[in-house]
Amino acid sequence: MRHDISLCLIILLTLTACSSERARYHIGISQCSEDIWRDWQNAEMKLEASLHEDLRMSFTTAHDDSRRQIQQIDSLVAAGIDLLIVAPNQLQNVTPAIDRAYDSGIPIIVFERKTDSRKYTAFVSADNYEMGRQMGEYIAATLGRQGKILEVLGLKGSSPAEERHRGFCDAISTYPKMQIAATLQGDWTEEKAYKVLREYPGDVSEFDIVFGHNDRTAMGARRAIAERMPGRKLPLFCGIDGLPGELGGIRQVRDSLLTASYIYPTRGDLLLQLALDILQGKPYQKETLLTSALVTHENANVLYLESEEVVRRSQRLERMHLLANGYLRQLSVQRTVTILACGVIALLLIVIVLFYLYHRGQVNIRRERVLNNLWNLSVQPQDTKDASATTEETEKVAAQALPPHSPITPESTDSPKPASATIQEASSPFIAHFREVVERNMENSELSVEDLAAEMNLSRVQLYRKVKAITGSSPVELLRTARLNRGHQLLLTTDKTVSEVAYAVGFSAPAYFTKCFKEEFGMVPGEVRKC
Ligand code: FRU
Repeated sequence: MRHDISLCLIILLTLTACSSERARYHIGISQCSEDIWRDWQNAEMKLEASLHEDLRMSFTTAHDDSRRQIQQIDSLVAAGIDLLIVAPNQLQNVTPAIDRAYDSGIPIIVFERKTDSRKYTAFVSADNYEMGRQMGEYIAATLGRQGKILEVLGLKGSSPAEERHRGFCDAISTYPKMQIAATLQGDWTEEKAYKVLREYPGDVSEFDIVFGHNDRTAMGARRAIAERMPGRKLPLFCGIDGLPGELGGIRQVRDSLLTASYIYPTRGDLLLQLALDILQGKPYQKETLLTSALVTHENANVLYLESEEVVRRSQRLERMHLLANGYLRQLSVQRTVTILACGVIALLLIVIVLFYLYHRGQVNIRRERVLNNLWNLSVQPQDTKDASATTEETEKVAAQALPPHSPITPESTDSPKPASATIQEASSPFIAHFREVVERNMENSELSVEDLAAEMNLSRVQLYRKVKAITGSSPVELLRTARLNRGHQLLLTTDKTVSEVAYAVGFSAPAYFTKCFKEEFGMVPGEVRKC
């Protein structure tokens, strides 16, 4: 039976384990900013992740604050991520946190912005220097190699800002009649670019072209300059990012708000695939250079149409993904309910089995004790609590076995017990005598404890206390067991009918004898003969 219980427990544990399924890989994504470019990239990663069941992704954004990003990286590591994808806000400041994560054994994919160290597993980016340089060439060509430029820089200390600036300066410096007349900090945001241009103390109308390090800063500068010189011809504006969609740079070029942009690929899908390759121990490229392209008025229309198609497709995929997720959620709810129901049923079974075992054990203990006490006459000092509990229980049964007018009544169970030494000295002859009196008189269905006590020259109370102290059972209990045992014996050794046997052992009603017999031996009297 112990095996049965272990089996039930194993089933239960397995069911519980199944219900707490854990994702196989936990990927942390530490974004330096939150903007339309990051949104695109995050959406691509999520879409790609939806094709892989065993992934969990935790996204954080530092809102252009390096200190915040350091804390977020440390928290992701503490949360037990298996891999970190990170775009460091600034080149130097965030490096220690990334190095710490790398040293703790977590694979690191640095993307798009660089760190100050070589402690990373893979690096993915487009060539920011080349982008700046090509934009310089494009602007020079557009202006006929002469003119004044305003450059709106990305965040100081972030690698794309430095590289784009360097590439741009290198290109422009080859044209003697071209001049970068002013550089202002745009810090990658439209608001900052708008603000610095609103507050710019010089004459904004002197610029022929504005180069923003991204489309948002170019658009912020455009808004401020347009406000400062209403009704006048604006300079040209160029940016970088060339995002698809209604708010993206491709459309802004198509609509002539920008003269040019440069596609800065987001490629969230590629990042996620790379992460999986690393986690699954597959071969991967340590450095990935993403290709990009200039967006101008000539190709903007085609690019926009294509990008619209891309947007439509990804939206459709997103919807399918949502639908599939809905079904999966439903399935998982159903599965959880099934698992819970199985758990409850298994628990109930365990409880029933335990109860059955306990009950059967109790019956056996009681029966053995009574039989031992009576027939082996062994003297065993009883545990007070246990004995009294057993007596109370059996006393009820015994009392029911007797006719309603029976004078035998249970004694108080809190009567004091003699010391065990005294019991040992005097018990055996006493019990032998008691047994002999019981056997001699058991045919008498009117037999009372007083009758038994009188035969033994004791009072009813004295007899009860002595018998109880020695055997742990009351005289009534012993009498009933003796009757049933004798009945059992008569059934085996004589041809008497069940009724005759019942009367012969002092039961006044054969049906009641049958009932008590079944309780005692687990079978009705008739079955004894068949065995
Ligand atoms: C997005 C962004 C882009 C820019 C890039 C530079 O957060 O600001 O607009 O091209 O980061 O790292």
